[in-house]
Amino acid sequence: MLIENDYEFDRKHIWHPYSSMKEPLLCYQVVKAKGCKLELYDGKQLIDGMSSWLAAIHGYNHPRLNYAIKKQIKKMSHIMFGGITHPSAISLCRKLIEITPLSLDCVFLSDSGSVSIEVSIKMALQYWLGRSENRQKFLAIKYSYHGDTFAAMSICDPQNSMHNLWQGYLNNNYFAEAPTCGFYDNWDINDFNDFAYIMEQNYKEIAAVIIEPILQGAGGMRIYHPKYLKLVREYCDKYGIILIVDEIATGFGRTGKLFAFEHAKIEPDILCLGKALTGGTMTLAATITTHEIAHTISNSKANCFMHGPTFMGNPIACAVALENINILQNNKWIKQVNNIEKKLSKYLLPLKKLRQISDVRILGAIGVVETYKLINIEAIQKFFVEQGVWIRPFGKLIYLVPPYIIKQHELKKLTQSISLAIENPLNFIN
Ligand SMILES: Cc1ncc(COP(=O)(O)O)c(C=O)c1O
Repeated sequence: MLIENDYEFDRKHIWHPYSSMKEPLLCYQVVKAKGCKLELYDGKQLIDGMSSWLAAIHGYNHPRLNYAIKKQIKKMSHIMFGGITHPSAISLCRKLIEITPLSLDCVFLSDSGSVSIEVSIKMALQYWLGRSENRQKFLAIKYSYHGDTFAAMSICDPQNSMHNLWQGYLNNNYFAEAPTCGFYDNWDINDFNDFAYIMEQNYKEIAAVIIEPILQGAGGMRIYHPKYLKLVREYCDKYGIILIVDEIATGFGRTGKLFAFEHAKIEPDILCLGKALTGGTMTLAATITTHEIAHTISNSKANCFMHGPTFMGNPIACAVALENINILQNNKWIKQVNNIEKKLSKYLLPLKKLRQISDVRILGAIGVVETYKLINIEAIQKFFVEQGVWIRPFGKLIYLVPPYIIKQHELKKLTQSISLAIENPLNFIN
């Protein structure tokens, strides 16, 4: 079969993320990926600026990750987790408990980021049932994104996630104004007024606060002041409310700390991990909580935590996640992420002066260029591919979250391509 026919088949029969079957945007066929390079079917090489949505932190086809997968496959690819345990899950959970704050010591493994959010929501609800209190509301932040499943959508920004579309299905939760102070701005206490007010007025109903630490990702790539997060923790303590920290996008070094909540020197009560957990090789997520929450859940009428997916604790995913963390523990990532931050600052910050650009934000291995005009995704994507780079903007945001192993000249090429793209009016919608 001609490879072109595959495109036609794909367009007609396969949904891609947030895509239309009627007028699908062009998709590029990648046949191989290694290090920081993606190879298209025609042999064209693209430098990767996305890490497959913040997952492939060590780059693609990593020999140690590949070996961990192969070694596990030889033993067993999967085994049910009900009534059975296995060494890869035990070693991974030991490791997760070791690298996260002392208070977090009970791990629930699941399939994806969204599911780990569902699990965290359920944990919070069951915790209050265990305390014979019926609390069912969550307090989230505007511009937040926590996933695409229904409970997760109910805590996503009401505008971005089109809550109206799901009216009747989504629970009504509280949304505080998002922080406006950037990471490096002077802190303004007024930023926290709305959160404080909602908490004071409604704390008796609130089961948990949920927040993306430091970076609000898919809701707008907003990098906010650590003081906001610190105050969120203080208010949760003041009113005895659970704090769920969603580190799915930020975990494993992306912001320059192993976990972004470390910028605010706080600890979560429930922590959600995903994406980079397996170095971008397999789908796996973890929801980690305290002994107290875990044990209170078991006091509830159900006597147990009511969740148990078929592929829970998949051995291949656990084995590769463990190796991913082992690689991180040689601590090379710290220097790599610092270097990326310096280069992104050097190449992207000057774009702030351009009339097309409303803001540039940098933290760790994250570089965000916000434009005034809406981006024509298909046109800009084509432009980037012609330049030999893989960058996937959305809305008014062109952002880079490259693998930590990216070389200086590759990073330069990515940033130069962004500068060129901005100059081309065809890449924007008037
Ligand atoms: C902060 C955050 N939470 C949750 C999710 C959902 O994860 P998944 O796409 O693995 O379901 C994402 C995905 O982008 C995310 O960025």
